[in-house]
Amino acid sequence: MNKSEAKVEIERLSSDLNRHNHRYYVESNPEISDYDFDMFLKQLQDLESQFPEFASDHSPTKRVGGDITKKFDSVVHKYAMLSLSNSYSKDEIEEWVVRAKKFVEDDLEYVCELKYDGVAIGIQYVDGKLVQAITRGDGSQGENVTSNVKTIRTIPLELTNDYPKDFEIRGEIFFPLKNFNALNEKRREDGDPEFANPRNTASGTLKMHNSKVVADRGLDCFLYGIYGAENRADGHFELVNKAADWGFKVPPSNERYIEKTNSVEGVMDFINYWDEKRKDLPFEIDGVVIKVNNYDQQEILGFTAKSPRWAIAYKFKAERVETVLEEVRYQVGRTGSITPVANLTPVQLGGTTVKRASLHNADQIEKLDLHLGDTVYVEKGGEIIPKIVGVNLDARTNATVGITYIHECPECSTELVRHEGEVNHYCPNELSCPPQVKGKIEHFISRKAMNIDGLGAETVDALFASELIKNIADLYTLTFDQVVELERMADKSANNLIAGVLASKEIPFERVLFGLGIRFVGETVAKKLAKALKNIDELAKADFETLIAVDEIGDKIAMSIQAFFWEDRNKEVVRRLKEYGLKMEIVEKEGSSNKFEGSSFVVSGVFETFSRNDLKALIESNGGKNVSSISAKTSYVVAGDKMGPSKLQKATDLGVKILSEQEFIQLLNE
Ligand code: IVH
Repeated sequence: MNKSEAKVEIERLSSDLNRHNHRYYVESNPEISDYDFDMFLKQLQDLESQFPEFASDHSPTKRVGGDITKKFDSVVHKYAMLSLSNSYSKDEIEEWVVRAKKFVEDDLEYVCELKYDGVAIGIQYVDGKLVQAITRGDGSQGENVTSNVKTIRTIPLELTNDYPKDFEIRGEIFFPLKNFNALNEKRREDGDPEFANPRNTASGTLKMHNSKVVADRGLDCFLYGIYGAENRADGHFELVNKAADWGFKVPPSNERYIEKTNSVEGVMDFINYWDEKRKDLPFEIDGVVIKVNNYDQQEILGFTAKSPRWAIAYKFKAERVETVLEEVRYQVGRTGSITPVANLTPVQLGGTTVKRASLHNADQIEKLDLHLGDTVYVEKGGEIIPKIVGVNLDARTNATVGITYIHECPECSTELVRHEGEVNHYCPNELSCPPQVKGKIEHFISRKAMNIDGLGAETVDALFASELIKNIADLYTLTFDQVVELERMADKSANNLIAGVLASKEIPFERVLFGLGIRFVGETVAKKLAKALKNIDELAKADFETLIAVDEIGDKIAMSIQAFFWEDRNKEVVRRLKEYGLKMEIVEKEGSSNKFEGSSFVVSGVFETFSRNDLKALIESNGGKNVSSISAKTSYVVAGDKMGPSKLQKATDLGVKILSEQEFIQLLNE
């Protein structure tokens, strides 16, 4: 095949495959067999690899994934991604309906929709082609996850009829229960830990670096908002239906996923219907959303600082089921803290099988008066792991046994301690209790600390088991020959590991300090300490007064730091890390100063020259402090584009100085 023939053939195959994809995934009405589809796709893949110059960014082969994204870029949203105001009470929803009508001084139509429990996404289309997909992030900027979103079969890569030239469509990416349960089934078979819930797994999946994995997991998406195409219809309901003509999968009206009504009764009927029927849905929802339909009326209603006044969410109460508490097991964390976990008779809860629940601590067990063998109530709250909320005392028999909390560490048999004023029990054997030692090493190598490529929890396990490492300093004495001897360790992986360890010597001091895993010294505290005390020697010898004089360091943190450096073994580890060449002092960045010392800043809105995070970093590196809400004590508000009017009003009322982006730059350069 010559070049021009290949071009024509690639275009023909792409267009056919896009159409078949739509028929299969969006219309559920395929024209050809799966086998034929795969064959056409294979032909296209082959042609694209022979003639890469004709492989388009919107080719159906992108569905299969394979693009690797090293780092997701931050992108500022063209339209801020706000949230919804929530209510758990039907009375409040009724009041909202009445209030909206009064405010607009006209009759209203309402659109009722499901509140999909997934991850929000904003997808931009230009000239009918998917050009960018961004996560919600902090609402003003999110992460560019385009390659991963392109693998979701129900999201069109190219649109068909009569679409707007440049617009954004927003929706929720979710994990259909069937696919989520299949994934967990597979993980169980492979001996991998199962995922706790579809929402968090959808969110984690969307941020994976290998889009092939995303493609295989089978995420789906429903749409709930269209921006930049308002003149195409007067109301939201009508525009969503139009989007179906452009090629989108929209929520089906005939299954009542979306509905238009002009009365309170209609809204209540929708809520009551889904409160009952939601357990039969093939995906999870956590409520319903009511929106004023007409765009002009939406405009009259406007926004508060965080959410539109033209929409409200009604959240369902958490679903609750009964099951039997079979056993309590105790987990030991990196800091030695003990977490009791309940093993339950498996039970279906909201489409997933629940087998474990967190029990938090001894007090919680006592408060619930739990017995082994009890029938317990389990609820899925906002947390990742479901929780036990009570006991069905009517079902308690003589065969149940009261729970006696353990006194000894389940891993190393050391007697547990409970510090005054703390709820958790601890295993004090931090130097040789295996999960604590391994946990500290895992923390040290984690992304936010030393970010050691090529080293994960499994390898740490293997290195520890073969006694090659007993603490974090031992990582730096590992050799290729030692590592390659480990089971399932190929030459390439061993090389990566050694290279990753070497590269970590360039990690800045504040992250090394965070990586040491001193109790209560998180990322922010480590930064503050590094900045104030400059190097590890000063920190190690700092007295209590010096420590508590550092911004945000209180008695508890100061005591913990001192306790760490009193321990000879810790001092030895630090000495060795220094000897191996890790960064143990702060490098003052160019452009840093104490100019903003003593001043606090609230940064809000979207900026032209900087991202919000860069701006905040500038404030910090010049000695200022970032705070999240405005008070009379705030020194400055840096106001960007799209800053909420109520925030501005508050700043004005309290007499806080408001700086534009330009004024901030001036202040910085003064
Ligand atoms: S409308 C201005 N409609 O709920 C906000 N949101 O707290 C417009 N969500 O981040 C959002 N289903 O991720 C809307 N039918 C629906 C929704 C929905 C789920 C999520 C969305 C948003 C969050 C709002």
